[in-house]
Amino acid sequence: MKSSQNLESQDPASKELLRLSIDKLVYGGYGLAKHRNKAVLVRYAAPREIVDAEVLEDRKDYAEALVKNVVLSSNVRREAPCPYYGVCGGCQLQHIEYTAQLESKEEILKETLSRIGKIKDLNLMDSVPSGQEFGYRVRVQFKVKNGRMGFFRWNEREVVDIDHCPIAHPRINDLIEPLKECAKHIRELQEIHVTYSPHEDGFLVKFITPTEIDRGFLVSLKEDYLPQDVFGVGDYSRLRTILNRRYWIGKEYLFFKVGGWTYRVSADSFFQVNHTLWDRFIDAVVSEVSYRKALELYCGVGFFTIPLSEKGNFIEGSDSSGSAIDDAEYNAKVNGRDNVVFVKSDAYRHLKSRGGEVLDLVVLDPPRSGLDGKELDLLVKNKPERIIYVSCNPSTLARDLKVLIKNGYLLEGVKLIDMFPQTYHIESVSYLRVQE
Ligand SMILES: C[S@@+](CC[C@H](N)C(=O)[O-])C[C@H]1O[C@@H](n2cnc3c(N)ncnc32)[C@H](O)[C@@H]1O
Repeated sequence: MKSSQNLESQDPASKELLRLSIDKLVYGGYGLAKHRNKAVLVRYAAPREIVDAEVLEDRKDYAEALVKNVVLSSNVRREAPCPYYGVCGGCQLQHIEYTAQLESKEEILKETLSRIGKIKDLNLMDSVPSGQEFGYRVRVQFKVKNGRMGFFRWNEREVVDIDHCPIAHPRINDLIEPLKECAKHIRELQEIHVTYSPHEDGFLVKFITPTEIDRGFLVSLKEDYLPQDVFGVGDYSRLRTILNRRYWIGKEYLFFKVGGWTYRVSADSFFQVNHTLWDRFIDAVVSEVSYRKALELYCGVGFFTIPLSEKGNFIEGSDSSGSAIDDAEYNAKVNGRDNVVFVKSDAYRHLKSRGGEVLDLVVLDPPRSGLDGKELDLLVKNKPERIIYVSCNPSTLARDLKVLIKNGYLLEGVKLIDMFPQTYHIESVSYLRVQE
């Protein structure tokens, strides 16, 4: 995006534009500028450039603005490859060269750990870039509204209709047209979730609606509109963040291969979305590890647990999702691992039940909210020799690292794994060791 052509079209003459000098990128994908001592968060800006921007919202502490015209372009600005960019809110960084995206994420991670975590002299290790900038996602959640299927606009609930998404795996793009045909026939459809296995070349599809889809009708939709490689479809409702299954038709899981490992992943279990980084992500967690007894909290289907089990005597993984634990138990068997046990439990209860045990290693990969205070209390009481903390949210990571460091842990290093190119999301692995 060299100029304002792709940006949301409103008559620039109708609104006052601010001339802003963009200092750097900040979390959320915004460029940061100052205007009359107030911070301005600018959508679609690049570091070190001058833009004319329209103010979208003026709050007490900061304003939010949108680039309307690039006056002096950053040398890392590029034409966004996606025709929907600037309207669809799924990506925030496509207008920036990939290496510069990665550099900005490193700076944001460092700055967040320093500001919230009070961590100075951070050892930011070499980042792991995505294997591909585009075509990396094997799981996509499409929004559906008013006959449109795609993604929300930036910070809005309006759906932008798309025919193609460049960050999705090409095979998921093949499925968009048939899914749109199905969408036409399902009343009040809100979302369609797709998971694709490159290993099986097959899909699972979930339809999310407030009212039940007639089972016979869904069977005929699957047969008439979807290709054979859609192995299973499900009817779901959503209550806030929780999806509830009404019923499922066909095969309920997919198999994924990562290096020498095989994973069964059911429709309701989590799996890492960027297929180009699976092996290097596992390597980042597993490669330098040895232990007698280890615990992995938030273990999902055993993505890390199964490879970790090769590195020590005994490992126990837990997750609150029954479906993930069923998969994990199956995965231990299919990969021939007999020194691993899985427990369906929330992280707090699992830690509590292992309170008095000597643990050499605890691996954690919590959701965006990070650990809660009670979990951190138990963790530092148990004092495992090493903690490996996988995080998808630098702010909650910084908050939790601060507590761990205060309680005697040394942060040996942090590694950024760029799981989500073109978006502002930051995944990282932190390595901690208890100080003598
Ligand atoms: C980011 S995923 C990580 C899963 C796994 N490490 C992987 O890489 O596939 C987070 C996992 O935490 C689980 N989870 C969410 N809240 C939890 C809680 N309070 N206690 C235990 N597990 C929880 C979810 O079911 C999900 O599998």
